[in-house]
Amino acid sequence: MVVGFAGSGSMAAAMARGWGADAGPLLFTDSGSGRAAELAAELGGEAVGNAELAERADLVVLAVKPAALDSVASELAGTRAVMSLLGATPLERIAAAFPGAEDVCRVMPNVAVEVRRGVLCVAGRLSADARRLLQMLGHVVELPDEDFDAATAIMGCAPAYLALAVEALADAGVEAGLGEELARELVVETTGGTAELLRERHPQDVRRAVASPGGSTEAGLEALDAEGGREAFEAAVRASLERMRGS
Ligand SMILES: NC(=O)c1ccc[n+]([C@@H]2O[C@H](COP(=O)([O-])OP(=O)(O)OC[C@H]3O[C@@H](n4cnc5c(N)ncnc54)[C@H](OP(=O)(O)O)[C@@H]3O)[C@@H](O)[C@H]2O)c1
Repeated sequence: MVVGFAGSGSMAAAMARGWGADAGPLLFTDSGSGRAAELAAELGGEAVGNAELAERADLVVLAVKPAALDSVASELAGTRAVMSLLGATPLERIAAAFPGAEDVCRVMPNVAVEVRRGVLCVAGRLSADARRLLQMLGHVVELPDEDFDAATAIMGCAPAYLALAVEALADAGVEAGLGEELARELVVETTGGTAELLRERHPQDVRRAVASPGGSTEAGLEALDAEGGREAFEAAVRASLERMRGS
């Protein structure tokens, strides 16, 4: 199966790196920055124009900014199957922009697809081969189209929020006297282990297991509460949703 990326920015790069050589031949386009050629050189694919991409790709992965949808779709006339990564852009909009395509699906991946530990929300029609490709990149969740914005705010944007939490904890470790590299290693490994544990246990259980009454973790959680820790995450999700919905 030939996969073609229309757009070679951050998300195209993350997915293409996640697939590596396992997805078969990869094609890339850009709007003139040279990023398509860079990705092709890195991953052994080919940089082409949009018209050639539409002709050669069995699956076109639409990885441009939402505002570029109509212009890029006109250059991709003849596309047979489309997988749209566009944020805040319902399936109906994609299908209308590609009236000739047999399969049109919408996928919201997060950046962890690069290490095959992504979350990928999926709606619409996709072939068995396309589904298999997505499964290579992480955890695939079928989702109604209307739930995509809410999902995006907590799985598409969230790697940035979690990265900020990791950075803040590591910085606090440095302030407490640890070396920078060691502090980051301790926090990153703790984050990975906690994520594994959270697959088995409810977040409140994990909190209770660590924070014994009167202990140091309880003191830390109280300080987080006093500083509005929980509310800060809620505000981040609300702000992301508002931006997505243009309000
Ligand atoms: N970043 C994320 O974590 C993330 C997560 C989920 C979904 N998404 C979605 O993925 C899409 C891409 O996001 P991104 O962060 O990867 O954006 P990005 O880094 O800005 O990349 C956009 C790419 O589109 C290319 N482009 C623009 N017009 C084009 C055209 N007419 N033909 C071919 N290529 C064209 C740009 O070309 P140049 O290189 O020449 O500028 C660039 O390579 C967005 O719709 C976003 O909502 C992103």
